[in-house]
Amino acid sequence: MEVLHISAECYPAAKAGGLGDVVGALPKYLNRQGASAGVIIPRYRLKWFEGKAFQPVHQGAVRIHRGYVPYSIQQYTGKELGFSLFVADIPGKFDRTGIYTDPSGHGYGDEVERSLCFQQAVLQWVASSPGKPSVLHCHDHHTGLIPFMARHCPEYQSLSHIPTVFTIHNGAYHGAYSWEKMYLLPFFEAGARGLLDWGNTINPLAAAIKCAWRVTTVSPSYLEELRENSNGMELLLQHERHKCLGILNGIDTQVWDPRADTYLSHHLQTDVHAFKAAHKQQLAARFRVDPQLPMMTFIGRLVGEKGADLLPDLIARALKHGVPASFVVLGTGQAWIHDALRHLAFQFPGRFGLSLEYNEGLAHELYAGSDFLLMPSRVEPCGLNQMYAMRYGALPVVRAVGGLRDTVPDVGAPGGIGRGIQFTHFNLDDAQMAIHRAVGLYQNQAFFHAIREKVSQVDFSWDRSAKEYQALYSEMI
Ligand code: GLC
Repeated sequence: MEVLHISAECYPAAKAGGLGDVVGALPKYLNRQGASAGVIIPRYRLKWFEGKAFQPVHQGAVRIHRGYVPYSIQQYTGKELGFSLFVADIPGKFDRTGIYTDPSGHGYGDEVERSLCFQQAVLQWVASSPGKPSVLHCHDHHTGLIPFMARHCPEYQSLSHIPTVFTIHNGAYHGAYSWEKMYLLPFFEAGARGLLDWGNTINPLAAAIKCAWRVTTVSPSYLEELRENSNGMELLLQHERHKCLGILNGIDTQVWDPRADTYLSHHLQTDVHAFKAAHKQQLAARFRVDPQLPMMTFIGRLVGEKGADLLPDLIARALKHGVPASFVVLGTGQAWIHDALRHLAFQFPGRFGLSLEYNEGLAHELYAGSDFLLMPSRVEPCGLNQMYAMRYGALPVVRAVGGLRDTVPDVGAPGGIGRGIQFTHFNLDDAQMAIHRAVGLYQNQAFFHAIREKVSQVDFSWDRSAKEYQALYSEMI
């Protein structure tokens, strides 16, 4: 194998968010371009694994403090993924029903041990296999110590020449812990301690930025933002700027295909407006809203990072001021946001539809039927939903941040490059103004339809980004 992706998530086996989507798609597109890419994740006790066949490829034991934790590496025997999927089966550590938390949302409390077991199992396996990968590509802090260990732990010395790439999908999570837990780490060179440290903690995100051969972020704008303001990491990112690069994510256009989407009852044939109208009718009936009005939807986690805390006031204001639009929200998150939205649904029947759940199928229908997708994110390293929306003919209304800034130029921008509506500052007034502009755009049906046709044809597939990753790999090899 040439490129080994190491991650905590990989769609369809284990997905909690966009990280899973990316790791489940990028290797497939790399392989189509002639590379040989595989993925390894921990083996969780999730639904996808039921009834799936795996073949053992390696067995070993990881030393944690004074004990040994046995593990086995297994390869999925199915061929449908488009890449080889390996799992690290570590009994007692990952055979649980959640990826990061139990189903009620509580952390597991032994994250440090778990992540060290996984990362070391991967390194031992790679060190023991005769055909070593030419690149180790690590994703987010859960795999952040791999570039460090591969270079500075004598145990893994045979890997020190293998180039490593570290991709930051979300720089807000560092995975940091106290130096008191140092005894859990494998033995490392005495002079290397500083490489693990950031702010007097062991910080896997910082260690990865320092030790990986190359660091990428999932959009160019996000890299700029991290350099300017990232809770104290700015200096480190500026210092390491020579090896950092922003590569915009793509979307899996096989999974997200309005012409063949298995979640949809009507498929896009030639007329995107007819496709949208059919789905809007269904949604309007389901949520009891008026199909004549523009439908504005929010899909995602109801948390501050996504700007979901703005939604209750934003929607209430719009509806109180008689803005001619209807709103739908799909997602789960913070309890107070649930309560505020429930109250809104009660206050504005016929104008506001609510589904407080994670529902992949309904999400697909909403992209297909909505006129606009709201993404007022505080932070958005890349964002995939705006690209799903555009492919399904919904125009994004976004805060100009990270990947949203890179993928959704404003319709007012010169050169006719616009794809949606942008607003700059994170506040109610600016978001409100963006909604007004969206309604205005909708009322100009000819222009609105032209933009809709255009965005539904933009190529967001992984082909382009996979080429950029290939170039990065070749440069290092
Ligand atoms: C994280 C980011 C999101 C990005 C995704 C995939 O979930 O929050 O913006 O699209 O990773 O890279």
